[in-house]
Amino acid sequence: MDRLEIIGGSALSGEVRISGAKNAALPILAACLLPEGPMILENVPHLNDVTTTVKLLRRIGAEITFHDGVRLEVDPSRVAHFEAPYELVKTMRASVLVLGPLLGRYGRADVSLPGGCAIGARPVNLHVMGLRAMGAEISIENGYIRARAKRLYGARIVLDTVSVTGTENLMMAAVLAKGESVIENAAREPEVVDLAETLGKMGAVIEGAGTNTIRIQGVETLQGVNHSVLPDRIESGTYLVAGAITGGRVRVNRTRPEHLEAVLDKLSEAGASIQVGPDWIELDMRGERPRAVDVRTAPYPAFPTDMQAQFCALNAIAAGTGTITETIFENRFMHALELQRMGADLVTKGNMVVSRGVKHLTGAPVMATDLRASASLVLAGLAAKGVTIVDRVYHVDRGYERIEEKLSQLGAEIRRLPD
Ligand code: UD1
Repeated sequence: MDRLEIIGGSALSGEVRISGAKNAALPILAACLLPEGPMILENVPHLNDVTTTVKLLRRIGAEITFHDGVRLEVDPSRVAHFEAPYELVKTMRASVLVLGPLLGRYGRADVSLPGGCAIGARPVNLHVMGLRAMGAEISIENGYIRARAKRLYGARIVLDTVSVTGTENLMMAAVLAKGESVIENAAREPEVVDLAETLGKMGAVIEGAGTNTIRIQGVETLQGVNHSVLPDRIESGTYLVAGAITGGRVRVNRTRPEHLEAVLDKLSEAGASIQVGPDWIELDMRGERPRAVDVRTAPYPAFPTDMQAQFCALNAIAAGTGTITETIFENRFMHALELQRMGADLVTKGNMVVSRGVKHLTGAPVMATDLRASASLVLAGLAAKGVTIVDRVYHVDRGYERIEEKLSQLGAEIRRLPD
């Protein structure tokens, strides 16, 4: 397994170009099962989770061609298998996103249950409840969700918890259902909006994406179209924290500042000077030590759970005491123990991490346990004195494209140690 070696201590400085959003690319790839003709997707990030999705779509029978790395064509005309097998779902829970499209367009889907996950139980009951409301017959057999429906019918679905992939799955099922569907308490994440825009171009009739009520009028068929995936707000936020944690100056380009308001507010509160343009954000920490901040995660537009671990690293070296409260997932503080091994003064109490900032972390061998936890260890390594080796880098590679190259561009001393 690859590792990353980081020699910490230098202030980062420079510009970095943000890739397409993982969490938009995955549902949009699943949506490619819906139209009659081929889809062309641009700005698709080169990530392990995208590779897993491509494998899954190929298993289902879609033909996928890569053009120059970031552009790919998905032709669903030969789809003939309607299964997401355990060996793929267990590596990437978002594989469940093929459930809605397969059922809506082909009337059947067998999708392995994701099982336990490193960051808590993460059930799929809302996906199943919504599809049942639309008339699907669903049973759980041999660890698989077995879903059947000759035709789905529009329904009013109230989600009792805001679920991002739940909203996306139900939206993709509803676009070809008969009649009107309404999803209440829908997720408002920009990635949900990007999926809705893609579906709209394909001929779907969707209103209200980006609000908590989404209305969908079912249509008979959809067509293949071109779409460029929106920029990754979590990758953007992570590089900005890299600037802040090292006292540096970082500009992220080709991003969407309006999707990062809660994160930028916290970075300003930490003492960073922030400037934004139409598609860029510049953070300047002017060589100063950040101030600790209090962060509470919640569904968009509040502070994202996917940025919590990075702020935990920031608080670890900041002046003062800060708290991170996680309200979306249980058990999402695996990074805290590893940060302690680097000298952080943290206490975890239930769903909160209280941190008294120390002046310096010290490099150590650490283990990545999930995607965002691993990002926080990389950030801590950049700020630490000495050498940090982050093991199990495949977690980082699930969600960050060429992280060592992008950080090197900013002046970090980082290299990949191949297995
Ligand atoms: C998505 C993101 C992930 C992000 C998360 C929260 C993708 C591919 N992944 O994950 O990066 O951290 O949103 O912003 O977009 N829940 C249920 N029943 C369900 C579904 C969810 O109880 O059927 C609960 C979950 O346990 C969790 C909460 O709802 O407590 C939110 O989870 P959800 O929004 O569904 O997360 P994902 O869509 O899996």
